[in-house]
Amino acid sequence: MRPDAVPLVLREDVARELSTRRAQMRTSAYAHSVFALLACLGVTVAIIGVKAQQATRETTPSADWDLTVLETAPDLNPDPRILEINLTAAVAQVEVSPGRRIEAWTFNGTIPGPLIRLSMGDRLIVHFTNQLPSPTTVHWHGLRVPIQMDGVPGSSQAAVETGGTFTYDFVVPDAGLYWYHPHVMSAAQVGFGLYGAFLVDDPSETFKVPDERVFVLSDIDITERGKLEDPQTGGSTGMAFGREGNTLLVNGRNHPRLTVRSGVTQRWRVVNAAKSRFFDLEPGDGMSFTKIGDDSGLQEYSQQLDSLVLAPGERADVLYTPTAKPGTEYAIHARLFNRGYGSVEARLGEELLGVVVADTPAVTLVPHPKVTRAIEPIAQAGATPVAIEFGIEQSPFDKTFNYTINGKPLDRIPPLKATVGETQIWTVTNTTAWSHPLHLHGFFFQVLDKDGTPRRPLQWKDTVSVPFKDRLTLIVRFDDRSGSWMYHCHILDHAEGGLMSVVRLSRPGEAPPPLPSEQSPHGHSTSGR
Ligand code: C2O
Ligand code: CU
Repeated sequence: MRPDAVPLVLREDVARELSTRRAQMRTSAYAHSVFALLACLGVTVAIIGVKAQQATRETTPSADWDLTVLETAPDLNPDPRILEINLTAAVAQVEVSPGRRIEAWTFNGTIPGPLIRLSMGDRLIVHFTNQLPSPTTVHWHGLRVPIQMDGVPGSSQAAVETGGTFTYDFVVPDAGLYWYHPHVMSAAQVGFGLYGAFLVDDPSETFKVPDERVFVLSDIDITERGKLEDPQTGGSTGMAFGREGNTLLVNGRNHPRLTVRSGVTQRWRVVNAAKSRFFDLEPGDGMSFTKIGDDSGLQEYSQQLDSLVLAPGERADVLYTPTAKPGTEYAIHARLFNRGYGSVEARLGEELLGVVVADTPAVTLVPHPKVTRAIEPIAQAGATPVAIEFGIEQSPFDKTFNYTINGKPLDRIPPLKATVGETQIWTVTNTTAWSHPLHLHGFFFQVLDKDGTPRRPLQWKDTVSVPFKDRLTLIVRFDDRSGSWMYHCHILDHAEGGLMSVVRLSRPGEAPPPLPSEQSPHGHSTSGR
């Protein structure tokens, strides 16, 4: 099935080798054959996703395989407004389906890591220890933290070496569901299991929903021998597509079951923590999702959806009322989502989650609460236009692919500049055959429609998909947090393959902030060209 499968044993020496593997990587037999074929056809892209789907089985969850309710880490601080926790990154055994254990990379021994939950304005202190066989950091995706806490080597901190520690300490300014993950060798480390959810409550919220859940959606790539797949599998063709895991996970479990009560509304906060996969959730026959919030908390007004799409890095806040008969079971499917060439051809959707409707008397349906939030559109007057183009090129010599921003490969992309208080309108043009979920660190933006008006309902976002062969416009205002803030595609292979750079934000008249370290912030030295 996978001629290029290299069993990856997470011994220290092997794992250390990962960071240098890219440069030395032999072109796999698989990539060669796909490559030869496509070269004959004059096609410059390849299908890598297909094999992942062939390897997945349609299994119904077993009776005792219930969805994990995410655990929190113990709070070491008596002050109710301070959450102080220990967080350790280490290799650990996890059970992804009944009896199927793998060695993965974890925060505090589990996939996902502990749920970090606090209220707006609370302070978080994290005593982080790295016991991985590789350097790492923690990035707090979406949170408006000071640059020193952003987890990017060079512009925030030095990478935490094996055995090293770092203390993250910041106040959480905004409500919503966020998440955390490393910012060193991200495609490998996130793919191996390093991520967790970060929920910030807004105590002034007036509506109450009986059942609340946090879902971390992801996937993991496991070989037939039960090891983690080599994160460089498929070579640069694999990178160009964005490698997907062959095993879907919901809160770390493959095909778990969720028990619900018919007629009782649930509030789901969902994050897509997969390194490449888009999720498109199908709510079950005759049911729908009521979306009330996006990346950063509630949105302007709710939307009724019969399909919930999340690009890697995105979050959603939805109300969901199961209406199936008590005592029955059904499934929530992850539909195929077209994120570009090779993502839907010869593949099938898959069952994501089994839903067990408890055999209790059905409750009379109450309409969903009306959830709204006043959001001001960012003023466009005086905004600086910024043009960004995502492209891909193929080396005429070794035929490898790399992504480009404004025509430049990773090591030659000039940083964007911004001044504190400045508003910018980014027009992002995607000339490639794949969609790219663009993530900006440290700031929220609003998406503009093609006619330049703000997209309704208004939302605060930090990650948005720029569809293949298309264009997307967004508006962002930079507040007073100087620093070099990353922006990149959240298909982490794409980021490392060239869709990653920084915005250098400084106060007028001040020296520009330090750039991320030489070694790219995602940890791969850029391949020689
Ligand atoms: Cu969630 Cu720079 O990423
Ligand atoms: Cu991308």
